[in-house]
Amino acid sequence: MRENKKEMNAAIEALLSELTLSEKCRMIHGVGFFVSGDVPRLGIPGIVSSDGPCGVRNDFYPDRWYVIGTTADYVSYLPSNSAIAASWNTELAHDCGMVLGREARGRGKDVILAPGINIKRNPLCGRNFEYLSEDPYLVSEMAVQIIEGIQENDVAACVKHFVCNNQELDRYSVNAELDERTFREIYLPGFEAAIKRAKSLSIMGSYNLFRGEHGSESRSLLTDILRKEWKYDGLVFSDWAANHDTRDAAESGLDVEMGISADFENYYLAKPLEKAVEAGEIDEECINEKVRNILRFLIRVRKIVIEYTKAAGRGKKAKAVAVPVSDRDPGYYGGLVMHEYALKAARETVILLKNEKKRLPLKPSTTRRILVIGDNANRVHANGGGSAEIKALYEVSPLLGLAREYGGNTEVHYTPGYYVPKKIRDGANWQEFSVMDTFSTAPADDKGYSANEKKEKKRLKDEAVRLAKEYDDVIFIGGLDHDLDVEGADRKSMKLPYGQDEVLNAVLDVNPDTIVVMVAGSPVDMRAWKDRAKAILWMSYNGMEGGTALAEIISGTVCPSGKLAESMPGCYEDTPVAHFGEYPGRKLTAAEKKRMKACNRTGEYKEGVFVGYRYYEKFKVPVQFPFGHGLSYAEFKYSDMTVKKNAGVITVSVKVKNTGIVTAKEAVQLYVGEKKVSKENPVKELKGFVKTELKPGQSKVLRFRLTEKELSHFDAKEGAWKADSGAYLISIGSSSADIRCSRSVKL
Ligand code: BGC
Repeated sequence: MRENKKEMNAAIEALLSELTLSEKCRMIHGVGFFVSGDVPRLGIPGIVSSDGPCGVRNDFYPDRWYVIGTTADYVSYLPSNSAIAASWNTELAHDCGMVLGREARGRGKDVILAPGINIKRNPLCGRNFEYLSEDPYLVSEMAVQIIEGIQENDVAACVKHFVCNNQELDRYSVNAELDERTFREIYLPGFEAAIKRAKSLSIMGSYNLFRGEHGSESRSLLTDILRKEWKYDGLVFSDWAANHDTRDAAESGLDVEMGISADFENYYLAKPLEKAVEAGEIDEECINEKVRNILRFLIRVRKIVIEYTKAAGRGKKAKAVAVPVSDRDPGYYGGLVMHEYALKAARETVILLKNEKKRLPLKPSTTRRILVIGDNANRVHANGGGSAEIKALYEVSPLLGLAREYGGNTEVHYTPGYYVPKKIRDGANWQEFSVMDTFSTAPADDKGYSANEKKEKKRLKDEAVRLAKEYDDVIFIGGLDHDLDVEGADRKSMKLPYGQDEVLNAVLDVNPDTIVVMVAGSPVDMRAWKDRAKAILWMSYNGMEGGTALAEIISGTVCPSGKLAESMPGCYEDTPVAHFGEYPGRKLTAAEKKRMKACNRTGEYKEGVFVGYRYYEKFKVPVQFPFGHGLSYAEFKYSDMTVKKNAGVITVSVKVKNTGIVTAKEAVQLYVGEKKVSKENPVKELKGFVKTELKPGQSKVLRFRLTEKELSHFDAKEGAWKADSGAYLISIGSSSADIRCSRSVKL
């Protein structure tokens, strides 16, 4: 429905004029951990929020970090953003958003604190599983769909964390410094698309500092870019306890300060602000602007309408009151149809990285005995990871998925293979301590085992090796878990935890046909066994039906179609952050110390625009698997590429044919680069993709549309996007490293 802005603004002004200073101050900060202040006298409700990207989080007491713990908050568990991105399917992204929004509304929320869309700059970042990709184009396309899906349900998305929240280590106090071009080309486009194209009704600032200002009270980000440049009139939340200063919080584009302490009255935007306004130190108009945004938000999510009578003559006041919208979408959660969406999405998130000698699929008709090794076969992940944790109605583990898929004629035997120490973050209230609690290393580590643990480790490995000799079909399911893919901590290295390399190699020694499945939210170092394993599958935390989807792909019921949304470097030392960039950041200079508060280091993004494949290609650094890679049980032939230029628009077409013997989906990727690549530019960049389904023998012509913007780079001197004239190469392929056809075009 189109908004009548004039009408809405008049109503908002009328209600605003009824509010006292302390009522207004109450509205702009949390009065519970997930609710902002209300004004019952005028019918104004608080804004009820909930995490997070994979589903609607369990309910907490408003002033204690303890889960309430009834059975009423079990929900559907959706694939994490790292999994959704691997589908390269925008329709699925939309469906996942729609389910998330519907369930959030069903649970009585006004805003779901999702999606997380920070660029995956560093494979060690503990929250990468909540994020989409290393590529800004892929991030933008997926984020837009997720947000639009969420917001179909009278509920708001809250895109986060604006911006450059690219590491968890010292996330509260690290300052990100980067040049303007890099900022505009890599880190900003996802947020810009979320705000301008998807019209995200809210956005969350970040903990970290950006060019010396904390993200959640930064004038350059929240005022200059968001409010002035993008003309954003939606709602800006702080991250939880991310504010440091009343004036900055008040005078920047922030609207609502949320926190983790129950001392709500003393939040920066509560009593301290009220006092500052009374003392004439801060202009009340800052508060009015926030209240306007809050009221507009409440109208947009259809929580209230404002009823008002116009002022009856000069000197008379308009009378206004907020009333609930009676036919607001009630949403619902946990329904069977949601589980079908979760399954449909999960199927496309699984990536076949390697399949030598057609080791996969493992046909059920001829498979009689399967040995499954590895903790991730038997583990569920929904209730972990930090604020992304949820109480899943159920979660099909890979082991359950396999046992169900193969049925009663096949023996599916499980052995753990390696030892996983007890989690150190068990317990519900980690968030209470979250501002103090960032790890420099992930909690679980191979070192430091007790004598008994060492014995157990050996026993599990010996058992796996003994059994692997006996079984024809062995599937190793390992990787990471939410002790490592976790909020508040970065991994120490890309090495697999729990001695998995050693176990896997010992198993491959006795059974070279072993199929390997990696479950993880971030790249891991697979070099110890990657060349030996014939078949490798990759999946992220892919929701309540993740195990079903994996099993269907192993059996061949479903053809794999996921592709990497991030490059897989061999080790951390190979990454652009390690080579050029700075992580976890250097000590502050004396000038920085003076200028910045609550900051203890600066990380300069010296790699510039060379993030992910832009770096590996430019500097010819080999990776384990390239961006966009993912195999199928079918083969595809690409042909008849055409490029036409007309009135500033370039239309590209290509014919793709399924030359295999099974129905399959293919994510066809379009990259653009200069024909003669200049020093400052990447070799090529993703500028289009289409996922299509093809029956055996079927072909389709796919079309892409490019404008000058897609051929442009940000010229920092001129502060504008500019396309240089010259020859460009448009390449179409099955991955960034598997280009099937290309044509050049002159600008
Ligand atoms: C996280 C946010 C989350 C918030 C509320 C913070 O620690 O960074 O992503 O939405 O907590 O739980």
